[in-house]
Amino acid sequence: MSYYIGVDIGTSGTKSILIDPKGKIIAEASATYEVHYPKPLWTEQDPEDWWNAVVKTVRAVVKASKVKPAEVKAIGLSGQMHGSVFLDAKKRVIRKALLWNDQRTAAECEEITTRAGGREALIKMVANPALTGFTAPKILWLRNKEPKNFEKLRHVLLPKDEVRRRLTGELATEVSDASGMLLLDVVNRKWSDELLTKLDLDKSLLARVYESEEVTGTLLPDVAKALGLTTECKVVGGAGDCAAGAVGNGVVKSGVVTTSLGTSGVVFCHSDTPQYDPAGRLHTFCHAVHGKWHMMGVTLSAAGSLQWFVDNLCTELIAKKKSDAFEVINAEAAAVSARSDGLFFLPYLAGERTPHADSNARGCFVGLTNSHSRGHMARAVMEGVAYSLRESLDIIESMGVPIKEIRTSGGGSKSPLWTQIMADVFGQAACKINAEQGPAFGVALLAAVGDGAYKDIEEACKATISVVEKTAPKKTNSKAYTAGFDVYRALYPALAESFQKIAAMS
Ligand code: XUL
Repeated sequence: MSYYIGVDIGTSGTKSILIDPKGKIIAEASATYEVHYPKPLWTEQDPEDWWNAVVKTVRAVVKASKVKPAEVKAIGLSGQMHGSVFLDAKKRVIRKALLWNDQRTAAECEEITTRAGGREALIKMVANPALTGFTAPKILWLRNKEPKNFEKLRHVLLPKDEVRRRLTGELATEVSDASGMLLLDVVNRKWSDELLTKLDLDKSLLARVYESEEVTGTLLPDVAKALGLTTECKVVGGAGDCAAGAVGNGVVKSGVVTTSLGTSGVVFCHSDTPQYDPAGRLHTFCHAVHGKWHMMGVTLSAAGSLQWFVDNLCTELIAKKKSDAFEVINAEAAAVSARSDGLFFLPYLAGERTPHADSNARGCFVGLTNSHSRGHMARAVMEGVAYSLRESLDIIESMGVPIKEIRTSGGGSKSPLWTQIMADVFGQAACKINAEQGPAFGVALLAAVGDGAYKDIEEACKATISVVEKTAPKKTNSKAYTAGFDVYRALYPALAESFQKIAAMS
């Protein structure tokens, strides 16, 4: 028998699963770690924390599954995208990694756009505009702000690819995650020599690029021993967590769209050709499906907004039991009617990407009165995030991409209330599939494809993934949200100037 492991190195923690070739989950384990906030809107993590969590969780699933070491044929890696792991000549980590939601690089984004010859020229080279979360601006930030560290810099890896280096010794990445570095010629699926030259960056900084199901190496002897596996175990390319989550949701062909409510919120659609939003609001990246692409919109603080709300405004609930705090909050929010009696929330706690690429945008409650309760605020947070995802769905639709089915995923979608709100705001059913492990499941399937258990990822998804539940929109709520969405959409433009002034003050 053959088994496969999927590992997702997320922002709040790492999850590992072990599956059989039919996609049945035999064991799962997770471990959490810290995000460091050295300054407002700066986010960093220690790559050593990811490594420790990967070792701990992979060992745990191997042990719990009781399968023989040689039966685990391949591992797939997924991870938070865009993070910058800076390595020196001896492949030692130079400083903590800057994360996908770090907003320190506005000046470097301007520098990149100017060096590229303008926004349009940049989009022609790498399919996307420069956004603060992407990796290339982080490299320039190191050069501009920490020149001593930049002098030592020899390799830049994405979070999951640093884990791959420690598993296999190989410096490798794959097309979906590499797309988010802003250095990949996304149309031709290779590094953009043109942009690298314009940015005066050496190509040797970057890892070799594979397709997502391709084998990038095998486990090093001491690592295999530590994990309870063998040196025959392959490590396939895997995918950035958005593409991995989409594969884990079976979004490998046109028409099906997935929305995910993790720390960030993502609306993701498959595309057989590289298509662009002319306004650059959606990201156009390579998909983890061989030779295909995807477009996606990203809400930087999705379930992260509710997490912030609970952590900061429900401390007495956490003091009792953290897991119950979300249940209490859900119950209180469920008792409030659609549109939260006129209370709105803008989820820009970490600035925003889609549709407003603005690192200075700020989170806010608008419309508070003395009759609003904590339940109103919690519901407004859920509604604000759903409106934000709806903005991405609308852009996708306006590009002529069909949305025949919307699948939900991520921690936030475990809330029946939030799922209902999404269906109501989207005016379309929210579908749940049989597999709940999103990115970890997606890359475990890619590992199975890389090992030859399936012809391709489309075949693997067809064999293992099906819709098991549909939440239909409630007509009266949908009507209320249509009017609410109009108000929501008008708030950012009305506040944008104030956001700039507030940012300048802090
Ligand atoms: C995608 C993005 C986030 C992270 C979260 O562009 O920045 O979804 O990948 O893990």
